[in-house]
Order: sequence, then C-alpha cells, then structure tokens
Amino acid sequence: MTQDLRLAIAAELSRSRSRTALLTGAVDDDDLTRQHSPLMSPLVWDLAHVANQEELWLVRDVGGRDPVRGDIDELYDAFKHARRDRPALPLLNPAEARAYTAQVRDKVLDVLDRVRFDPAERLLDGGFAFGMIVQHEQQHAETMLATHQLRTGPPVLTASPAPAAETAMKDEILIEAGRFVMGTDTEPWALDNERPAHTVDVPAFWIDAAPVTNGDYLAFMDAGGYDDPRWWSERGWAHRQNANLQAPLHWIRDHNGWLRDRFGRIDTVRHDEPVVHVCYFEAEAYAAWAGKRLPTEPEWEKAARFDPATGRSRRYPWGDDPPGPRHANLGQRHLGPASAGAYPDGASPQGVHQLIGDVWEWTSSGFHPYPGFAAFPYREYSEVFFGGDYRVLRGGSFGTDPAACRGTFRNWDHPIRRQIFSGFRCARDAA
Ligand SMILES: [Fe+2]
Repeated sequence: MTQDLRLAIAAELSRSRSRTALLTGAVDDDDLTRQHSPLMSPLVWDLAHVANQEELWLVRDVGGRDPVRGDIDELYDAFKHARRDRPALPLLNPAEARAYTAQVRDKVLDVLDRVRFDPAERLLDGGFAFGMIVQHEQQHAETMLATHQLRTGPPVLTASPAPAAETAMKDEILIEAGRFVMGTDTEPWALDNERPAHTVDVPAFWIDAAPVTNGDYLAFMDAGGYDDPRWWSERGWAHRQNANLQAPLHWIRDHNGWLRDRFGRIDTVRHDEPVVHVCYFEAEAYAAWAGKRLPTEPEWEKAARFDPATGRSRRYPWGDDPPGPRHANLGQRHLGPASAGAYPDGASPQGVHQLIGDVWEWTSSGFHPYPGFAAFPYREYSEVFFGGDYRVLRGGSFGTDPAACRGTFRNWDHPIRRQIFSGFRCARDAA
C-alpha cells in the first residue's frame, strides 16, 4: 500500500516535471527571462518558484533536511513581490534555475523513499504534502501556458487538434430542487478550501448543457452587446469602457469576420467551440442579454457531482474514475477547448456536458470559506483570499492537469481577468 503510494507520487512528480520542462524548454533564454505581460511572471521565475516551494515543503518540512538554497526564499515568495516587479529581481538565470530545480528534486525523491505516510500527521496522511506540491507545479504549468499565450513570436507549442462534436445535446438541463453534499472530506489531495463536506439546499434551476460557444457569443456581439449598457452591471460597464472591451482577448478583427491568435497561430474563430478568454463582466453581460444569469458555485457543483439515482455526490460528473482522454479535455493534450458535445462519456448523469476541462467556468459566487473551514497547511493558500474581489471559477480548462482538477476543485480570480483560460455557461431559475 505504502509502496503503491510512493510509486504513484513519484509518477505524478515526474509527469509534472516533464510538463514544466516542455513549457520552459520550448523557448530560448531570452524568452524565459523576459516578461511577456505585466500580468505574468517571467517563465524563469515560475521555474525556480516551483522548486523553491518543493524545497520548503518536502525537503525542509517533511524531510527535515537542511536548506538547498536558504538565501533565495524571499525572491520566490509570491506574497513578497507582485508579478509586475519580478523581472527586476536578482533571479536565478535559466541555467541556475534548472540546476536548482534538479537538485531539489533529487533530494525529494530521497525523502519520498524514506517517508512514512503517518495517518496521524495530516501533512503526510495519504501523501498530502506531495500531492499539494504536484498540484502546485501543475497550476504553475497552466500559468506558464497562459504566459505562452501572451508571448509574441513564432509558435513553439504543438498538440493534436481537440476532438469534434459527437453528440447533439439539449440546450438546458433542469436540476431539481433539493439538498446535496458539496465539498469533500475524503479526497486525499483536496486543498483546504474544498473542505469540509457539507449539505447545501439548492432551489431548482436550469443550466446550459454545454459552455457558451463562440457562435453563441458572436450573436451577442452582433446584437451590439458590447455597446449596450443594459446588459452590463455598473462595475462591468465601467470596466468595459475603461478597458475598451470589444471582443474576447486574442480575437482579431478581419475584413470578413473574426480571427483568433492561439499560441502564435492565427485561425478563424470556430463557432462550435466554447468561448475562452472572457472576463467575469463579459460573461455576466452575455448571460443578461440571453435572459439568463451565471450559475452560483453550489449550482455548478450540484450539476457536476449530484447523482439523483443514489443521492450521492460523485468525484467527477461521469463518476469516481479519474479523468481519462475520453472524459474531458484536460492536461494540455490539446491547445484549445473542444467543440461542444465532444465528450459524451464525460457528461453528468443528468446530461450536462464538459463541466470538467475545456474552459474554466465563471460562477456568480465570491470566494468564501465553507462552514467549518480550517486553514491547512498555511493561511496563505486560501484564507487570505476569502472575501476579496474575486469570483470563483470551476471545472478546469484544456490547460489544467487532471491532478489539479476535480468536481470539488475551486479556482478564483479578479472579475476583470481574462488572460486565463476562462469561459462560462449560463443558468436560470426554474420557478
Ligand atoms: Fe505558487
């Protein structure tokens, strides 16, 4: 049992490192150290930061070993320096960052060989600290992928095209009123903000069977949605004016329609794919124009996890099996969202599609603790963000690794952000 867990952790550590290596190896040193957007760190910062967190938690804390580089903690502390300021720091250069990363990983594998997964120690139970570090690296890999999207220059990433639609779907699905269990006590690698499991009573609602597509979104644009304050909240309209929003990020107006820049490749906007790179305010305006609203976070999770036949909440919409290629578009297997209807095997029991993967979905909920929340293992993971100017996003994107995505996983960001792989689906009251 312990040996199986050790092997599973080693495999996950190696998978996350291959992805980091791919994303940082695809560009030259100049691209690694340059800042591609004030919203993002230089890639070389992410690289050494991933290793520094790994050193702090696994080498020093779990392993009880001496620091590898005690002198650089401050440089790679995300709370000490805003992303925009990171290029000016005396960061490790690419060769130094790679050497540091490898040195830390060597020690971690040694710690892993000897560690006892003592159930009495929360950090070690089920390999939690290792799981947290795997998820951290995968989350930074998604951030690095978003940096790649903001980078200019010839394309350097490749992947097979996402699958086409297989299924015709209903437009909306009715989720009956009633209680369901939200959050988890049993997912071994779930983070503090996903805990504890608790019962929530949700009134009946309709939810879109698929994320809003580019075709849907173009109808909003063609109807003058960006120029009509009726559809926008007060804050949303102010932001639309200030930022001069006119289309999703990375869309380019062409004489006969819209194109998009995806990782340096220019292509026509595909109507059947979920819209991506929209901020919360754009999602909110679209929903109002469509006579709907965004789902709340409990509505989203109920649609994704509740099985009316058993009354149980599943780990994923399709059941408890971990995500495979037929379930969801995750893990950068493709470099964009798949057509609506491309993953019939990943649908929920009630027929809601693509809740996991493709695009992060904005919900109307702010980021708050569940009743009974306890910060673990540190306040800075979630607690310091509660109640801030954030909206919760759910479900993961094509750039989210399965290790950092489940039915309970919560992401949050400022409502103006759209460099992330964010889309949405709509809901409405059933009354
Ligand atoms: Fe981080």
